[in-house]
Amino acid sequence: MKVVFASNNKHKLDEVRAIIGDSIELLSLSDIHFTDELPETSGTIKGNAEQKAQTLFNSTGLPCFADDTGLEVFALNGEPGVDSAHYAGPQRDSKDNMKKLLSAMDNKINREARFITVIAFVDKNGVKIFEGEVRGYISLEPKGLDGFGYDPVFLPEGYSKSFAELDSSIKNSISHRARAVEQMKNYFHTMQEK
Ligand code: IMP
Repeated sequence: MKVVFASNNKHKLDEVRAIIGDSIELLSLSDIHFTDELPETSGTIKGNAEQKAQTLFNSTGLPCFADDTGLEVFALNGEPGVDSAHYAGPQRDSKDNMKKLLSAMDNKINREARFITVIAFVDKNGVKIFEGEVRGYISLEPKGLDGFGYDPVFLPEGYSKSFAELDSSIKNSISHRARAVEQMKNYFHTMQEK
């Protein structure tokens, strides 16, 4: 079975491939030469995932899925949330986003946060939604070189290292995206058994 992931982000593709395994052939947007911009204007994480996957399916007719992720910080009333990618501006720069976040967290005692990922899978049968979350804390400064996005400032619950310091196999076993992808993988298995 071939499925298109609405992304060209190598980090995400590697993470998702490591979880999904070989039973599904995962194609990126560049693998299918899809270069149009996918809209993310719904105002919610779930809405954006659905919007991207539905647009891609309408245009290609291929089974596909899109993910949307937000980092929600409790002391900031859930910000940056749906605005996580462009928190510090339209340049969508991770370093700028982390800098803005750490300065918003200056003097905040409660540093609890969570990542949530919503995946929307679309095929001829319609849309299926899968959600995953990981709870943790915002660190006092960026730590580690691996990963992407907010990984250097996120300490998952139960670990004293950031996502950017932890081995990718650990991140892949506990992350928001891993948990959503696991559910989708189970759904693929039940579909293949039918
Ligand atoms: P997107 O919905 O995947 O575009 O992600 C929204 C924002 O969250 C972007 O700034 C990403 O860099 C960031 N992000 C998404 N997934 C992760 C992750 O696994 N770790 C750290 N940051 C992430």
